[in-house]
Amino acid sequence: MPEAFTHDVAVIGCGRVGLPLALAFADRGLSVVGVDKQPELLAAVSGGRMPFDEPHAQAVLDRVTVHWTDIVSDAARARHVVITLGTPSFSHIEIDLRDIRGVLDDLLPHLREGHALTLRSTIAPRTTEFVAGYLAKHRGFDVGAEVFVAHCPERIAAGRFFEEIVSLPCIVGGVGRRSGEVVGELFEVFGVRIDQTTPVQAELAKIWTNIMRYATFALPNLLMMDCEQYGANVFDVIELINRDYPRGGMALPGFTAGTCLRKDFAFSEERSHAPGMLLAVSRVNESVPLFLVEGMVRRLGTLANRKVAVLGLAFKAGTDDERDSLAHKLVRLLERELADVAIHDPHVTTPTQSFDDAVLDADAVVLATNHPEFCGTGPLRRIATGAKETALVVDPWDCFGAAQVFAYANEIAALSAAGAPAA
Ligand SMILES: NC(=O)c1ccc[n+]([C@@H]2O[C@H](COP(=O)([O-])OP(=O)(O)OC[C@H]3O[C@@H](n4cnc5c(N)ncnc54)[C@H](O)[C@@H]3O)[C@@H](O)[C@H]2O)c1
Repeated sequence: MPEAFTHDVAVIGCGRVGLPLALAFADRGLSVVGVDKQPELLAAVSGGRMPFDEPHAQAVLDRVTVHWTDIVSDAARARHVVITLGTPSFSHIEIDLRDIRGVLDDLLPHLREGHALTLRSTIAPRTTEFVAGYLAKHRGFDVGAEVFVAHCPERIAAGRFFEEIVSLPCIVGGVGRRSGEVVGELFEVFGVRIDQTTPVQAELAKIWTNIMRYATFALPNLLMMDCEQYGANVFDVIELINRDYPRGGMALPGFTAGTCLRKDFAFSEERSHAPGMLLAVSRVNESVPLFLVEGMVRRLGTLANRKVAVLGLAFKAGTDDERDSLAHKLVRLLERELADVAIHDPHVTTPTQSFDDAVLDADAVVLATNHPEFCGTGPLRRIATGAKETALVVDPWDCFGAAQVFAYANEIAALSAAGAPAA
């Protein structure tokens, strides 16, 4: 490490991606600065407590030392500065770079020769070149020779960080002659293959990894809506498509959103020469909650003053992450129907009722998240016992193995008895 630097690496933005990454670097023996602006988050980690669920993270936090700070310029103590800030999308279908620009402005006066800046956040094509240009414009650096800038996208799935950081190939798109090499050396610490490419190819590879998943899940969701229109069973049709067919397969329907999938398509769409296709994908996924509410209204007549239990608020099974979850959209839509909404989620920090209280005397129960706790015959029995005898069960994930998006509790209990795993 050159003498001017007292630390190996600084991570700016210690959220769902940055915090596990900072811990993983420290666990490999690197000296780490962790920067975040949220006082509660810093208080938690300084006190040795993970502020959110990520398997194995608490154990790593317990055994490593990180210099936690809310001062962005402290990051310049480290040779490597890794940016893991949020990159939301404006409703104008355009990346919101305000956090990244703000941090760059704080860092600018402190950058010096040898510094390497890694953009780990998901970013729109050409953002890495913009950042390199920003350093050249404001400080006159020769990027790739004096300082280094690369995009090294995070591709782990929440909940699998510590398994995937040591297994997923690491894509590095460096600006100029040596940025890729310098940043690649940092990530070699995880023992994974380093795939060197150009900055824009790294950006596209990450965005399109997520677009592929977003579009893949829109197809069964659209099929689910078509099946309702034609009086067909979506699970039967998917089984017919997939059974013994050698070319690919259709995924199952469900709520498709969350903090990444819901916005990353916009980073392609903002400059696309074929605009609209991904907007349509987004519209399909975003309309699933409304489709379910309309299906309930068709079957129950009205939802006004009827009790609807929503099981799950997290956007993903087995996690506590509620950001951009369609379950919240479902709750809002149900409230607009004047339903009495009761919610249960065993993982999230938002206070919710117990399972049994939520389903007690319910006129309808919606499986909004396919948490493992909700799947199988055990939870179904508790619904059949607690909810009204005529309760409608809405299960787009097929948690109960009855292969029915909409069915009555007694019907679904009979259907799932044959197929669902006991729980
Ligand atoms: N969450 C995922 O599973 C995941 C996976 C792959 C990629 N990504 C991408 O990684 C990036 C980060 O995502 P995330 O889920 O970790 O976001 P996050 O919101 O959990 O974390 C961002 C952190 O940055 C902090 N921050 C914001 N402005 C700051 C500033 N000026 N100074 C210091 N700290 C500041 C926030 O307080 C927050 O803790 C995004 O681009 C996202 O698309 C996320």
